[in-house]
Amino acid sequence: MPPARAEVESLQAYSAPLEGRRGLLRLDFNENTLGPSPAVVAAVRALPAEHYAIYPEYDGLRQAVLAALGGSCAGLTPSHVGIFNGVDAAIHAVFQAYGAPGDRLLTTSPTFGYYSPCAQMQGMGIEAIPYTLPGFAFPLAEVSAALAADPPPRLLLLCNPNNPTGTRLEAAQVLALAASAPHTLMVVDELYEAFTGDSVLPLLVAQTGADGDPFAAYPNLLVLRSLSKTAGIAGLRIGFAWGAPALVDRVSRVTGPYDVNSFAVCAAYAALADQAYVDTYVAEVRAARDWLVEQCLAHQVRHHAAGGNYLLIWPDGAVAEVDRRLRQEAGILVRAMTGKPLIDGALRVSVGTGEQMRRFWQAYRLIEGR
Ligand SMILES: Cc1ncc(COP(=O)(O)O)c(C=O)c1O
Repeated sequence: MPPARAEVESLQAYSAPLEGRRGLLRLDFNENTLGPSPAVVAAVRALPAEHYAIYPEYDGLRQAVLAALGGSCAGLTPSHVGIFNGVDAAIHAVFQAYGAPGDRLLTTSPTFGYYSPCAQMQGMGIEAIPYTLPGFAFPLAEVSAALAADPPPRLLLLCNPNNPTGTRLEAAQVLALAASAPHTLMVVDELYEAFTGDSVLPLLVAQTGADGDPFAAYPNLLVLRSLSKTAGIAGLRIGFAWGAPALVDRVSRVTGPYDVNSFAVCAAYAALADQAYVDTYVAEVRAARDWLVEQCLAHQVRHHAAGGNYLLIWPDGAVAEVDRRLRQEAGILVRAMTGKPLIDGALRVSVGTGEQMRRFWQAYRLIEGR
């Protein structure tokens, strides 16, 4: 076999152990644990077979994405929206479009595990600034200082709220960071913003005049959002990027022309039109998270919960053993954070409905002998 590029030969790829999960209670990938709205299911089922034979079309979808923002879309146009095969594909495209060998990625640690391999495959260096203990606070001073370096980093990837620590950064601070580093492309991964309301988009729109372009003052800012975790269509793969039209254009240039398939497009229309379903699910998750935190407090279980539909729990027993027993004895999947800086020894538990959390808690207490 001819060798791949040197960066690819040495790459430790993002590994998602995704097999054999069906039928189990999946609290390991922060997915929607109920599935999509019935309206989404009906729309996908109703897709005429003729559409399978036709390449997908996207233009009306950009309009629908805008409309779903409601009041916070003034000044935004379809050309501010990029459509990708999941936010993963948007992240990959950002690196392909902007990351050259020797360039630097600035990010935080621990954070979502796909940023680093994307940087490595481009031959980029990585500077990952740790969250601040106790409490995993955002290392604002350190990130600001790193942004001011000469030369500045090529890319800044911020997950807000952060997966897996839940750390939140206020929208005003996100914008201030972007404004402070005009030569760095700043990507804010807002996959979990629905669970906290931390998105930067409403502030961007609010601080722009009625007819202005909200991204005019932030041509280096790209905001990522997806329908995976809230609307329950992770398996169909669709995600969005928001940014200045020129930036969205550059990032979209490196994808294939039809990377997002017709089923995903069809499901996205229906999901975006049923915001009430998402709102109800998000409210249920937030209540279930509060309940689980109360249990942890009452039973003195070390935990950390901030933003997002997940929290960290440190078992007394060996983390791999608790992970294994939850799966084998209770049919519950969680994610061991083994090897992750600052949180080695923790389990990340995705939050679903109240009933699912009660099932998790019962099994966890039994295994931990609490
Ligand atoms: C922070 C973050 N960004 C992106 C993704 C991928 O999202 P998508 O399903 O839209 O590709 C995930 C999935 O776990 C995530 O946690």
